Amino acid sequence: MDKHFLALLGEAGATGLAKGIYIIRKEERFRIAYENELSHWEYFRKFKRSLLEKPVYYTLVVVGILIGVMGMAVIRRVVNKVESQALDFYYKNFEINGEIAKIVEDEKHHFIK
Ligand SMILES: [Fe+2]
Ligand SMILES: [Fe+2]
Repeated sequence: MDKHFLALLGEAGATGLAKGIYIIRKEERFRIAYENELSHWEYFRKFKRSLLEKPVYYTLVVVGILIGVMGMAVIRRVVNKVESQALDFYYKNFEINGEIAKIVEDEKHHFIK
C-alpha cells in the first residue's frame, strides 16, 4: 500500500477520533484538533480517494465517543499513542517540508500533557 493511501485513511480516522472525543468533551483543544485533522484529510484527498474513507471516519467517531466517556486519563493515553504513531509514519515515509511540515507541526500540538 502506498504512503498517500495510508495517510488518507489515517487522517480520515484521526478526524473521526477527534470528532468523537469532541462530541463528549466540548473543549477548544479538541475542536482545534478536529479541524486540523479534517484539513489533513482534505490535503491527502488531492492525491487519492477511497471508498473506505467514510467507513473509517464513522467507525472512529464511535471509537472517539467511547474513549471520550472513559475520561481524561484514557483520552490522553489513546491520543498520545495515536499522535506518536502519526509522527513516526510521517518521519519514515515523507520528506518533512511544505504542507507535510505543517501537518507534522499540527500533530505535535495534539499531544496531551
Ligand atoms: Fe493529522
Ligand atoms: Fe493529530
